[in-house]
Amino acid sequence: MTKIGVIGGAGYVGLVTGVGFAALGHRVTSMDLDASRIDMLRKGSSAVYEDGLERILRQLIGLDQISFTDDQSQTLINSDALFIAVGTPSLADGAADLSAIIAVAEWLRDEIQKYTVIVVKSTVPVGTIRVIAEILSQKLTESEDFDVVSNPEFLREGSGLIDFFAPSRIIVGSASERALAVLRNIYKPLLEGKTVVDVPWLDSDQEIPYVETDVVSAQLTKYAANAFLASRISFINEIAGISEKVGGNIGDIVFGLGLDPRIGPSYLKPGIGFGGPCLDKDLRALITIAGENSFDPVMFEGVLQRNELQLREVTNKITSALGSSLYKKKIALLGLAFKEGTNDVRESLSIRLYKTLRDQGASIAGHDFLAVREAIEIAPGLEASSDLEATLNGADVVVALNAEPAYSSLDWSRLISQGCSPYVIDTRGILDAGVLSACGITFDVLGSTI
Ligand code: UGA
Repeated sequence: MTKIGVIGGAGYVGLVTGVGFAALGHRVTSMDLDASRIDMLRKGSSAVYEDGLERILRQLIGLDQISFTDDQSQTLINSDALFIAVGTPSLADGAADLSAIIAVAEWLRDEIQKYTVIVVKSTVPVGTIRVIAEILSQKLTESEDFDVVSNPEFLREGSGLIDFFAPSRIIVGSASERALAVLRNIYKPLLEGKTVVDVPWLDSDQEIPYVETDVVSAQLTKYAANAFLASRISFINEIAGISEKVGGNIGDIVFGLGLDPRIGPSYLKPGIGFGGPCLDKDLRALITIAGENSFDPVMFEGVLQRNELQLREVTNKITSALGSSLYKKKIALLGLAFKEGTNDVRESLSIRLYKTLRDQGASIAGHDFLAVREAIEIAPGLEASSDLEATLNGADVVVALNAEPAYSSLDWSRLISQGCSPYVIDTRGILDAGVLSACGITFDVLGSTI
């Protein structure tokens, strides 16, 4: 059992990581400056939605495996390893804002009392680990020893617990054998399939690749993963655009493409583009890292450009469906979070679409099962609801923006019988074209000529 502290423990990565380590039998003290979120977490409630999270959280609180605090010093007193999971948002120039992480390093410099492994979970530019180590070295004596390790996260929102307990790999970057030994102990129960509470996502037969490398390679592995994922999306969106122009069907193209084992079928869904707090931010940070090192990342610039254009493609589809003016036209946007299965609306392209359409005078009704409150918070004035039928009622145009299963199984014939007959734009290829045609609905599938 290792005593673990998590800084940024109420955020998405910090919370899933803290809960995950506690379930592996470690004693976790999770800290966040957001006192109201900490208060909720103490009672077993999370502002971050993740399927199954609150149930396991309450069990772990009951077993005293995890506790929450807004007092930073508590994490240090109680920890052999301190995981930093604070946010690193994009600055205006695309570089990562490291102020939160630097503040933690300065605090550690003044407070650290015994050997502690500082583990950076936040995605930070190459060089940041050295900067943290330099800050820590400013005042420390030899007895107050430390190591700074990179252990990037690969959690997908909405599947975070699956990704924690059944990860595709664990990457640890450090040159210190002492620190690597601490990390091996932390992950040992996971590699052996052992937990202190019942975890449905764990497969005790799984072989989890555990990779030890240097700090820079660990960090770049994370940036490379997100850059690759973003490139796949821009790639398929570009193919979808060409397909639409020349009369193809993007569903069939993706199927045929994915059959090549070198390519594979996953992460090739066309749509409005990649949103959320990670892909765009990390790609911009990687472009900045390249630029600072006199390297011209032409391909990644193109990936970002395609993503920006994608929003315009969807807006154009709506405009051409409605004729010259959107004034007072009712447009139903299905999916407000940046993707299905989460209540996270950060960098949601649906919200950007809403703002563009609103500015052109359209009347928008937004639907989401999980993110209504969050959407209204960042887009005051948005009429949003978790009632699907109410959202669709009277809509001139319906735009399906994510792959929420309830959208694919909508009973269109019932809607028609209630007098609802919108023009439907399917950006994700999730609706059944046969059903829509049979109901006499005019529709448009991004990437396909119908
Ligand atoms: C992403 C990565 O998938 C995680 O591995 C990584 O740990 C995380 O960023 C992070 O850096 O923290 P996430 O942003 O939660 O995870 O969500 P994704 O499932 O990757 O989706 C990102 C965006 O791409 C969403 O807007 C989604 O709708 C879009 N997308 C995804 C597509 O348009 N097509 C696809 O085929 C897949």
